[in-house]
Amino acid sequence: MSTTRSGLDLLRRMRRNRGTPSVRSLVRETVLRPEDLIQPLFVRAGEGVPEPVESMPGVVRHTLASLVLECRRVAGLGMPAVALFPCIESSLKDALSTHATDPSNILFAAIRAVKEECPDLAIIADVALDPYTSHGHDGLIDDRGNVENDSTVETLQRLAVAEAEAGADIVAPSDMMDGRVKAIRTALDAAGFPRTGILAYAAKYASAYYGPFRDAVQSSSGQPLDKRGYQMDPGNVREALHEVHLDEEEGADIVMVKPAGPYLDVIRAVRGHTLLPVAAYQVSGEYAQIHAAARLGWLDYEATRDESLLAIKRAGADMILTYFAAEVAASLQA
Ligand code: PBG
Repeated sequence: MSTTRSGLDLLRRMRRNRGTPSVRSLVRETVLRPEDLIQPLFVRAGEGVPEPVESMPGVVRHTLASLVLECRRVAGLGMPAVALFPCIESSLKDALSTHATDPSNILFAAIRAVKEECPDLAIIADVALDPYTSHGHDGLIDDRGNVENDSTVETLQRLAVAEAEAGADIVAPSDMMDGRVKAIRTALDAAGFPRTGILAYAAKYASAYYGPFRDAVQSSSGQPLDKRGYQMDPGNVREALHEVHLDEEEGADIVMVKPAGPYLDVIRAVRGHTLLPVAAYQVSGEYAQIHAAARLGWLDYEATRDESLLAIKRAGADMILTYFAAEVAASLQA
């Protein structure tokens, strides 16, 4: 009874919607926009030229002057925000993370300079102690070598308030201490910053993919640091939802999953669990991996880069921190 002249008798031919670029664009479910992207940037004290980070091709440790120029470019590309990370000279690091809240911390000067030059660009400032501790952990260490939760949180409160004073729009606790979101919210409100937002690294895993970042902020002593006492076990997803739930109750404005690409299931689960905006952080190792394979001629650089970000958005991320941000925004504008 077939009316087709040859071949299969199919009512449903999925390929009809894939036949031309225009039909494909009509049925495309996920589209990446410059507005989805947040550029992480590193800044160091001193003059001279920006220093390249070896394990992250194209990424540099900016001086104040080059940081401001880069932020102007980022804003011009239609991106809404940058995330700033300081790279602190080793002579200023100590076990107590003293430099974190020192007014001469380069991060505060960077926030002020970027705010002045690009007032409409949102500044996200990281709140963790690892750039400032001599041992490289995200918190203060007790006599037995444990990262101490509650005294760390007190230092984080002061760091967050200092960042808000300098002009940060959003502070981003990335250390995975318990109770820090509520403590930071309380401290910001008490200091007169009720409008400063909190992006909580709610589900941050103890991941091997952070290696190149530790190189960028020079927080690694060569040995891989074991952060499993505070960052999450890569095997857990229910626990991620528990973390998100607590951060939401403590007053987080945005919750984040990190890393992103290897944790798409976590992004999806978090998206289904919270009404808050969900961010995802495509971390340094994800970036380095694509660069390395492309250098070897084993992967197509741009296609892999774009697919990696689309997948993160498709999984449910409302915004993505990625070292590819500016170049992808530029390619979307072209
Ligand atoms: C530390 C911090 C890390 C990253 C962001 N903040 C590293 C770590 O937890 O050791 C990683 C970012 C990346 O790898 O791109 N507070």
